[in-house]
Amino acid sequence: MGVEPQQSSHAYKNLPPLAGVAAMEDAMRAGLSVEQCVARLKRYHYAFKRLHQSFTARITAEPIYELKTAFSLHAWLCAEHVQAMRDRIAEMREPPLGLDVVPDESLEILFDEILAAPTTEELALGLYDVALPALKGALLRHIDETNPLADHPTVRLCRLAIIEIDDMLAFGSRAVSSLANAEPQATAAWVALLNNLLANGGGLDGASTREDRSVARKYSAKPYVYDPVPRRDERFVDPYNRGVNPEALLYDESMPTEAKVLMMFFKRLREIDVPEMMASIITQTPGKPWGYYREMSRQLWDEARHAMMGEVGFISLGVDWTKIPITWTWSLNLNTQLGPMERHGVLYFIEQGLMPRTGKRYEWEVGVASGDALAGLFQDYDWADEVLHAAIGRTWYVKEFASAKEAIAYGDECWSKVVSDFHELKERGLTEHRNWWPEVYAQACKHWGVEPDERVLNYDVTYANTRADLKEISASG
Ligand SMILES: [Fe+2]
Ligand SMILES: [Fe+2]
Repeated sequence: MGVEPQQSSHAYKNLPPLAGVAAMEDAMRAGLSVEQCVARLKRYHYAFKRLHQSFTARITAEPIYELKTAFSLHAWLCAEHVQAMRDRIAEMREPPLGLDVVPDESLEILFDEILAAPTTEELALGLYDVALPALKGALLRHIDETNPLADHPTVRLCRLAIIEIDDMLAFGSRAVSSLANAEPQATAAWVALLNNLLANGGGLDGASTREDRSVARKYSAKPYVYDPVPRRDERFVDPYNRGVNPEALLYDESMPTEAKVLMMFFKRLREIDVPEMMASIITQTPGKPWGYYREMSRQLWDEARHAMMGEVGFISLGVDWTKIPITWTWSLNLNTQLGPMERHGVLYFIEQGLMPRTGKRYEWEVGVASGDALAGLFQDYDWADEVLHAAIGRTWYVKEFASAKEAIAYGDECWSKVVSDFHELKERGLTEHRNWWPEVYAQACKHWGVEPDERVLNYDVTYANTRADLKEISASG
């Protein structure tokens, strides 16, 4: 203060100083020390980690499809920022990093409460009305208080994180208002409890004066237990229906490509069961390096995108997908019958099977050949994503085995264990295995302005005797 900034006297031909990162007077401000900076970074890191945990753990049992897919995205975004924060902390003379240490008990209770929130509304309020806005506020304050030149790498991280937090908040605030129930008092009490915890911790960044408000654990008084049973909203019908085998049509050379496109859209949309299942692996596999959670979360988000590509595909063809049984027996069976490592085995077994000629390349070729530009494009990216997923599987699953062959055999064995019995499902009254194909095909034909092909219309192959990889189901399985 008091010293006139010398910005103009040394500036060269009016060029901005300091590589444009700050005005001279801002760069002359003594800001946070490395120690203060690291202390705050550890709290942002912790917040992103716990947000990632909540978003992930709540995907499976969340019935509303739009929330399931948004949680998939938001979990991945948080996982990316966790990584960025870890990398930055490691640059700042900090070993041992102590990144597994809880930086503040109040923050711990705050995120425990959000994770355990019993209703979707309370969960959404905790995430989008309290935690993320508090985190954004902390990052803005960091940018404001640190030296913009000396701590530029952190400033950059904060700015990039804020862009994505704003995306999450834009979705979240709409979600919160659409979920609002008729009990504003209960809502206010819940938000107040969370805000009291923040106040007791001196804010999310711990940079404010700590308060001493009395707060008792509410929902987290009993430790949170992950719910592995997938749920869907009312648009999803007939969950046990295995009456249409899309793979058998897709690989039937005599079938027309337009019909195959419909089956591919179905297969894509059905993939919403993969995030439901992967969320269980991630949630129930503690103690891995962060790279594991980051890459698995990326894959989980990709699978949610694949489902939405199917949704978009159907809408583009005027097909009402809510009439199609988008089943969730796969995630249900895996989540309730297998352990996390066995589930990962099944996932890897299926995905590596998609790599040969008959898999993802074939689907892309069918998409292109169909003349439906969207189908070709979606399969193009779907194929690229699956190549990435096979690599993620090699990094985090196959390495647990003596050989790739052993890893694949284990996955096959685990999958064979859970194949659900087609006839038993019907006998138990869970489904009639209704053949929904003719209606969907007829709807699309109407959109195309063509008469349905009788043979395609009459397609009637179920999963009674064949698995999705077209392997015969053994009598015992
Ligand atoms: Fe996929
Ligand atoms: Fe995949």
